[in-house]
Amino acid sequence: MSENYKVLIDLFPENTEDEFDTEALPTVWEEKDAFNALMTKASEDMIKLTSVIEDADDIRGTLKQFMWSNCKACHSRYREEH
Ligand code: HEC
Repeated sequence: MSENYKVLIDLFPENTEDEFDTEALPTVWEEKDAFNALMTKASEDMIKLTSVIEDADDIRGTLKQFMWSNCKACHSRYREEH
């Protein structure tokens, strides 16, 4: 899954915002550095998650901390409301 994120960064190249039917907000391109930073953090946390999840007492909480919080952090800023 972590590799997917690196691929994902390449899915939002410069100046393609009008070419695809996307739910990504224009701010993805306007704040590209911030967006990529969030994507990189999500990727790194995912790697951490794979190493901590086996010993985690609180699987729900650990997933929330290392995965969902990153999804949410990015979606709430850069993804269109449904
Ligand atoms: C760095 C930003 C970022 C992170 C982190 C992120 N997303 Fe997203 N996600 C987006 C954006 C932007 C879109 C809208 C893209 C589009 O529709 O083209 C999206 C769309 C989606 C969609 C809809 C896809 C579709 O084809 O309609 C799903 C499902 C999704 N994300 C799941 C997740 C999950 C699960 C995580 C965490 C494990 C996650 N995302 C983390 C930015 C992010």
